Parts: sequence; C-alpha cells; structure tokens
Amino acid sequence: MVNVKIERGPFDAKGEPETAEISGSKSLSLAHISDPHLTSLTNIEISQLFNKRIQGYLSWLRKRRFIHRRDIVDSLLEDLDLTRPDHIAVTGDLTHLGLPMEYAESRQWLDSLGSPEQVTVIPGNHEAYSGRDWFKSCSMWAPYLESDTRLEIARTANFFPSLRIREGVALIGLCSARPSPPFMATGGLGQEQLSGLETLLQQTGNQGLLRVVLIHHPPVAGTVKWRKRLTDSQLFMDVLERCGAELVLHGHAHVPTFSNIETPAGTIPVIGAPSASELNRWSGNYAKYNIYQLRKTAANWEMTMQVRGYSAARQCFIPEQEVALTLPFTPSC
Ligand SMILES: [Fe+2]
Repeated sequence: MVNVKIERGPFDAKGEPETAEISGSKSLSLAHISDPHLTSLTNIEISQLFNKRIQGYLSWLRKRRFIHRRDIVDSLLEDLDLTRPDHIAVTGDLTHLGLPMEYAESRQWLDSLGSPEQVTVIPGNHEAYSGRDWFKSCSMWAPYLESDTRLEIARTANFFPSLRIREGVALIGLCSARPSPPFMATGGLGQEQLSGLETLLQQTGNQGLLRVVLIHHPPVAGTVKWRKRLTDSQLFMDVLERCGAELVLHGHAHVPTFSNIETPAGTIPVIGAPSASELNRWSGNYAKYNIYQLRKTAANWEMTMQVRGYSAARQCFIPEQEVALTLPFTPSC
C-alpha cells in the first residue's frame, strides 16, 4: 500500500503554490505527445544485441527507422514553440530498444522539450524492451518522472504512481512498462501500483482536482491487438469504477483512438494519441499530437481538444480538428 499525504498545493503551471481556491476560475492547456521513438541506433554495437533486441534491431533496420523520423520530431518542437502549452505529457515509447544510450539521447531531447516542471513523462513498453534492470536506465529521466517534490507523498522505489498538480489538474502517472517475450508488447500495472492509484484518485478527488490519468497501454480491451494488451486492464477499470477519474490519456496504438469507461458516477473519456514522429505512406499513419484546453466552469470542467497533424506537403504541424466535451467531474469514493 502506498501512503499519500498531500499537505500543500495545488500548484500552478510553473509548479508554484497557488493561492486561489479550486472552485475559482481555472484553465490549463495540456499537450499530449506519445510514441515518438526518437532515438537512433546507427552506432549500435553487436554486443548490445541479445535476446529480444536482435528482433527489435532488425525491425528498426528494415522499417522503423524510415517511418519514425527525426525531422518530424524537430518539427514538433517548432510547433510547440508556436502553440506554447502550459504543460506537456509524454506517454511513453521514446526509445526503440530501451538501451542506456537511447535513454541518454532521449534525456537530451526532453531537456529541449521543456523543464521537468513543464513536462511529465511515463515510460512505454519499448523502454522496458529487455532485461530486469531496465529501470536503472529509466532513472536518467527521473526529474521528468517523479512526483512534485513539494507534495508530501510516500515515494515508491520506482516513482509510480506519480502525482503532479497544475492549475487544479492532478496529473497521475502510471508505469505499465514491463519486459515481455519476443513478438509481445504487453504491459501491466501490478497490485501495488493499482493500490497507490486508488489512494491518489481518492485524495485528489476529495480535493476537488480534475484527475487526468496517464498510462502508456490502452486500458480499454480491444483497442490494440492481444499481444499488445494491458494484462490487468480489468483491475484498472475496477479502480476507476470505484474512485472515478475525469480523463485517461494513453499511447501505444500509433493511431488516434477514443473510447469511454462507464462508471456509476459518469463516463470517463479515454483518448489515445498516435505516434508524434510517424510518416508511414503504406499504412497512412502520420504524426499527430493533441492539445487539451481544460477549463473549470461553475458546474464542471470543460475540455476542448485540438488535434495537430504533420503535413508532409508543408513540412510542419497544422491544426486538423477541434472537439469540445464536458468532463464528468465526479466526487471520489
Ligand atoms: Fe508501446
């Protein structure tokens, strides 16, 4: 059981303590980026390739290096300079094989994306590609993974579940990354993390915060193929049914997805962002990311989602679609 004690907060978009009440006017623009697979394996040594990594490297050599493009990742940074969201959530799969050199390269990229106060990261299955001690490498990203240091939270050894609070919005990060056998890309949360999630949902819900859950694997069954599924998705759904949440964001599918989790207290939207670096002329997939404008009204929270997609013709990201919805601001259990 993870004990959580929130004694101070909430905090504004810069991580500073807020003085306004939650019931007052609130607004946060949150960019959601996923699966950039931004690392290069050009200088890899054969000695680094064993077990599942051989398969992954051959896949990168044959295909993935052509469809996950660094020039699109650079365009993404330029677009974020224009759109200037208050906060950025990255829902995993920054690497291909989860090698230490890829963690180092990704850390440099994260530093160019924004400060740890502005950027929240969770790992994906490619970060845990092989080996039990993958989390040692993941610790290179620690400032982007960990909970707000100002919150008095009983820390777990591996950061998750994490909690960051910005403008009345609780960003709850989960780690579904787990090493899986060759040709599998499954994930799991585990009982201890689910227990910690339940505690965080209760406490942040009781504080009247808008609860946004970040998870790499889609939690709704059938969103991705069986070999890519979240193995304990039903246990995750059970926690959300008991405690509620206002929004769930994920990656992993590489295509835009939208589904719902029905709970006694209301419907929770579940939104999947596609890869932010992909240009695949065979499948038709191309890079996108989302910006959610979250706004507190007198009665509930409203959200406008803007989809920004990469235009190969213009070689930049452009606005594609805008969707408005009201979030179920449900009391916690
Ligand atoms: Fe993934």
